[in-house]
Amino acid sequence: MDKGSKPNRADFVVVANRLPVDLERLDDGTERWKHSPGGLVTALEPFLRARRGAWVGWPGVADIDVEPFADDGLQLHPVRLSAAEFAEYYEGFSNATLWPLYHDVVVPPVFDRSWWHAYQRVNRRFAEAAAEVSAEGATVWVQDYQLQLVPAMLRELRPDLRIGFFLHIPFPPVELFMQLPWRTEIVRGLLGADLVGFHRPGGAQNFLWLARRLAGFEPSRGQVGVRSRPGVVQVGDRTVRVGAFPISIASAELDRLARTKEIQQRVKSLRAELGNPRKILLGVDRLDYTKGIDVRLHAFHELLAEGKVKAEDVTMIQIATPSRERVEHYKQMREDIEREVGRINGEFGRVGHPAVHYLHTSVDRKDLVSFYCAADVMVVTPVRDGMNLVCKEYVACRHDLGGALVLSEFAGAAAELTSSFLVNPHNLDGVKDALLAALDIDEAEGRRRMRALRRQVLTHDVDRWARSFLEALGTPLAE
Ligand code: ADP
Ligand code: F6P
Repeated sequence: MDKGSKPNRADFVVVANRLPVDLERLDDGTERWKHSPGGLVTALEPFLRARRGAWVGWPGVADIDVEPFADDGLQLHPVRLSAAEFAEYYEGFSNATLWPLYHDVVVPPVFDRSWWHAYQRVNRRFAEAAAEVSAEGATVWVQDYQLQLVPAMLRELRPDLRIGFFLHIPFPPVELFMQLPWRTEIVRGLLGADLVGFHRPGGAQNFLWLARRLAGFEPSRGQVGVRSRPGVVQVGDRTVRVGAFPISIASAELDRLARTKEIQQRVKSLRAELGNPRKILLGVDRLDYTKGIDVRLHAFHELLAEGKVKAEDVTMIQIATPSRERVEHYKQMREDIEREVGRINGEFGRVGHPAVHYLHTSVDRKDLVSFYCAADVMVVTPVRDGMNLVCKEYVACRHDLGGALVLSEFAGAAAELTSSFLVNPHNLDGVKDALLAALDIDEAEGRRRMRALRRQVLTHDVDRWARSFLEALGTPLAE
């Protein structure tokens, strides 16, 4: 990483809570940069790197100052967070208030005034940093729920900028959003953008309703389409567009990697290390209570207990990236999941052959692709997810037309991946039936489904997502 020259002001700027790389402090006191977790970075990083833009974000460690630096074509502008701000803005307001509220109140959101004050303070800092690095008339693309006040704050500082905002998580039903004591401030913050983007038309529609109810503006009335027919809100002399832009992945790149000899070799070794089971079930997630990891474990447990699957035949692998580990509901969920894994292995594992392989870690790209290629059934069962990129990654890797996808109806991706086995994660019997059907799928039927899934994922990649958003923002990209 080149920490030499100071970067110039940029014409294209992404502002996100995290930088695409996280600073990690090792036990021996040394530091290194590693890839940041989560779908936002997966989606935006390759796209922005190719365009030599600037990225404003937090470097992943509290209480440190890091100078701006260049990393392989990307200008990185670190924003400092104190330990108290990390607790109140990130763990508190972002991940114990907004995250559960926007995910259908799966756990009760906490409303705490001091967290809200920290959220305002930190959003202002991000807005100031973005104002400083943006060239005259630049396009600034603000990302996600941690920074919903930034569009209005930035507009106040720099009215010359073109500002887009994209929400990577679901936007909740209006009745749930109305619980938020600071609902009007959030809606007004977002209306500072020229374009507010959501994954699904439903989110855009909810926001349009709230713009009228809470901010008193008259929105357009037509139905918002996917990448088409954005809603419009007139805010004084500005026109704010509100649209739906389902995010995706760099599918061609994954397809290419999955076809390499190296990966094919790794897949063979992986299956052999697992004892060449007849079938492999796979889950890959951040360890988050919205992901329904417990759902798939319970379903697998019951199938084993009922003798409908045998541990000698079917192995489950769950790879879970550590996430938000000090937030109370995350701690509780980790304990519950690890207890369930222990119970399943205690009842059905044999020496050297656990029924569930559970890895509490992040794996590198090549390993991840090898797991995807080895898995007969990919199990994605969130109780709510804005989009979910894991299921798209799995599909992109299956050039062999093998494998089957079990996918929750409550993931944004369900609207696009209709040839998967769609399940309601609240209906355990339905999940069990889908797992059995996916495990026993007839080869021709499996290929037919995978072909249809791949058609969708390969033609709707992250580049198309970014292009459609930026075109609607009025700043189309050059080829
Ligand atoms: P979220 O943004 O909520 O984490 P997504 O499914 O949209 O969920 O994106 C998750 C991203 O993180 C994907 O690119 C996925 O490959 C990656 N990921 C998730 N778990 C792991 C893991 N254990 N190791 C490596 N990458 C992971
Ligand atoms: O898309 C959801 C999201 O919260 C992103 O904003 C974030 O990059 C990712 O998940 C990982 O979460 P965190 O930054 O809290 O580790």
